[in-house]
Amino acid sequence: MEASNKNSILNQNPILDELNDEKSLRPESLEHFPGQDKIKANLKVFIEAAKKRHESLDHCLFYGPPGLGKTTLAHIIARTMDVEMKTTSGPALDKKGDLAAILTNLKPNSILFIDEIHRLNQIVEEYLYSAMEDFCLDMITGEGLGARTMKFQLPRFTLIGATTRAGMLTSPLRDRFGIVARLEFYRPSDLVAILQRSSNILVANLKANAASEIANRSRGTPRIANRLLKRVRDFAQVRNNGVIDLQIAQSALEALEVDRAGLDAMDRKILICIIEKFAGGPTGIDTLAAAINEERETIEDVYEPFLIQEGFLMKTSRGRCAMPLAYEHLGFKVPPRSPANALTKAPTPEDVQPNLF
Ligand SMILES: Nc1ncnc2c1ncn2[C@@H]1O[C@H](COP(=O)(O)OP(=O)(O)OP(=O)(O)O)[C@@H](O)[C@H]1O
Ligand SMILES: [Mg+2]
Repeated sequence: MEASNKNSILNQNPILDELNDEKSLRPESLEHFPGQDKIKANLKVFIEAAKKRHESLDHCLFYGPPGLGKTTLAHIIARTMDVEMKTTSGPALDKKGDLAAILTNLKPNSILFIDEIHRLNQIVEEYLYSAMEDFCLDMITGEGLGARTMKFQLPRFTLIGATTRAGMLTSPLRDRFGIVARLEFYRPSDLVAILQRSSNILVANLKANAASEIANRSRGTPRIANRLLKRVRDFAQVRNNGVIDLQIAQSALEALEVDRAGLDAMDRKILICIIEKFAGGPTGIDTLAAAINEERETIEDVYEPFLIQEGFLMKTSRGRCAMPLAYEHLGFKVPPRSPANALTKAPTPEDVQPNLF
């Protein structure tokens, strides 16, 4: 990944030294998890029903942009169901044997959390099918002519898969999840609630209007809201006796180069490149990636979803186009023959990521 992305304050991926902080800021129950109301309401019912029947919860798939709470929800489910959770990831499950070792050691009704499930290799993925569907594994014993296939019965368990790339899952795998939930960007009011909770845990003196300001510039993402809170707290510590008020929040966010729409330097670079080098688009994603020297996946996973959701960018069959809002925000005039003139449709969650239901 390119340096600009790693260093970006708005990078949706956790920075290494943030991982411990993330644990401490993670809500432990659905009651303390603001936002994602529909998902929470449904999960409450599914969890209560499974508990009443003394059964494992159906397999769950959580998908959506980074930092929206997929891992957090998996932990909350384990805690609410009062079961053990084992955690692994798609790239870590290299061989069938790795998966078999984990599955055969699961306790009844426990949870197996597979992060980045779109990165499972095909052999391991196919091996997972019978485990998910029939709770059994085919094991080969012996070698050569003496080799035999044995069915190994597994305890019932819940697989929770998380991915930022739902479109990369094969349909046989997708179809084996009984509960599929798409996490969406958070409303500012939910981010304010998250910031208030985090500021209590961090013992930070956060004023209400400063919380709104940070929430509005956090790209609808709790991970970014928490990160901005910590950086703004540093500015407040040094310049304002630790009090995070609106003025200190605004000056800190300016120093961090997060603009009033929540865009950072890379977001602006993407939009300016489309406007200046490609006459507003459409431009193919690979061409764009080469022009700004960023990886295609990073643009697609980290930057693009928010730019689309906010109406700065549009994905068309012929490539990416800058929308009128991008011109306006960056101080450009929309040229009369620009494709932006024809693109005025408000984005739907479907534009940001496909719905798999
Ligand atoms: N609804 C929420 N309320 C409070 N904090 C939240 C919420 N959702 C996420 N967070 C916080 O944001 C951070 C990132 O969340 P999490 O790790 O669950 O995201 P993720 O979707 O798994 O991201 P990734 O795709 O990068 O794995 C965590 O510190 C978590 O506590
Ligand atoms: Mg995660």
